[in-house]
Amino acid sequence: MANVAILGAQWGDEGKGKVVDIYSEKSEFIVRYQGGNNAGHTLVVNGEKTVLHLIPSGVLHEGKTCVIASGVVLDPAVFMEEIDELTKRGLLSEKRRTKVVISERAQVIFPYHKLLDRLREEHGGKGGKIGTTVRGIGPAYEDKVARRGILICDLYDPELLREKLERAVKEKNTVLEHLYGQPKLSIDELHQWAIEFGKKLKPMVCDTRVLVQEALANGKSILFEGAQGTLLDVEHGTYPYVTSSNTITGGIFTGCGVGPKSLEHIVGISKAYTTRVGTGPFPTELADALGEQIRAKGAEFGATTGRPRRCGWLDLVALRYAVEVNGLTAIALMKADVLSGISEIKVCTAYEIDGKRVNTLPANIRAFERAKPVYETLKGWGDLPSTAKGLSDLPREFAAYVEYIERSLGVPVVTVSMGPGREQTLMRMM
Ligand code: IMP
Repeated sequence: MANVAILGAQWGDEGKGKVVDIYSEKSEFIVRYQGGNNAGHTLVVNGEKTVLHLIPSGVLHEGKTCVIASGVVLDPAVFMEEIDELTKRGLLSEKRRTKVVISERAQVIFPYHKLLDRLREEHGGKGGKIGTTVRGIGPAYEDKVARRGILICDLYDPELLREKLERAVKEKNTVLEHLYGQPKLSIDELHQWAIEFGKKLKPMVCDTRVLVQEALANGKSILFEGAQGTLLDVEHGTYPYVTSSNTITGGIFTGCGVGPKSLEHIVGISKAYTTRVGTGPFPTELADALGEQIRAKGAEFGATTGRPRRCGWLDLVALRYAVEVNGLTAIALMKADVLSGISEIKVCTAYEIDGKRVNTLPANIRAFERAKPVYETLKGWGDLPSTAKGLSDLPREFAAYVEYIERSLGVPVVTVSMGPGREQTLMRMM
């Protein structure tokens, strides 16, 4: 299979896990390039549920190399928990030839990153609360950009680690003590914590950039697995209500050290409707009984935090934006069955802001909060079949919905998911 990127076209939680799982079968390398354990995929293996936050879901298949590239921020404790769990279930046995490797350049999430994330959320006040996953993602990326981050390879260089920790902790302690009235951090304890994890991680650490380049040179197929979604991108998302990494296609190049020619297909994952967790504008939100119905039927509760997701109609302004900023070549449309039985389906085709029609996302967050959706109404559909070979096997109204989306976006819908099962997926071209 050609190299493919699979990334969220909305605010995350689009159902990437299922698509990644299907495409992973044909890829030898599965690469995560940004974010950290703020992501979450629920997987069912031999009837047992596993939630993975860091390790690509491709780990379920035999003979794969799962790569955590340099753009990721890694919480060693969470990572080791996942490794232990997967090993216990026999998924990382030698016989299966599936392995997990980490970039020596990935940034480490320290306990103080999580602490600061929580304190900021608690003390954020009006406008300052982002509704983060409180996993320390933002504070870890801040340290990276501020050039005081600690890399995975630093964990097994005790002297350098101590030097870096002393610098980091001095500053953190000032903030913790004087801004938040918290006890001081102990450098010795943090140093010990980091050294211990360094020992555990070291056998899995390598220069993943070289590994990926070699895979490219040898014509191996690679799947680049995105986390979160386009509208949570730190630059192109609904700033400041975003995550702290580049979730868009561009994040692949910086987060792995590869060039644009390494990608052939870029598939954006979108639900047949829209959801978001956390704070921030959401013009098509349904804060009513229908929104509740979608949440209940779609089991729209976060895999990482368990928070109920806000639900609303499909927003084609935002999806067109996702097509553009990512250079999407295709869309995978997920959870179409959740809308079955609703008689009229709305899609947002433009916004109205202060009496003016707008066809893109405004940068000013207050203006975005004032955006009113302009809807087109389409006919709803009844139950979807559990399998289908083409659009003609699906209810006419649903096929019309898919074709409407394709016309609006100018890219094909290559995958349609009609239920949680693997077989409940229509794979069209590509
Ligand atoms: P952070 O990534 O924990 O800093 O959270 C920043 C924003 O991104 C919040 O609105 C989170 O709810 C959101 N977010 C982070 N990760 C995910 C995800 O995997 N799915 C959906 N939203 C996410």
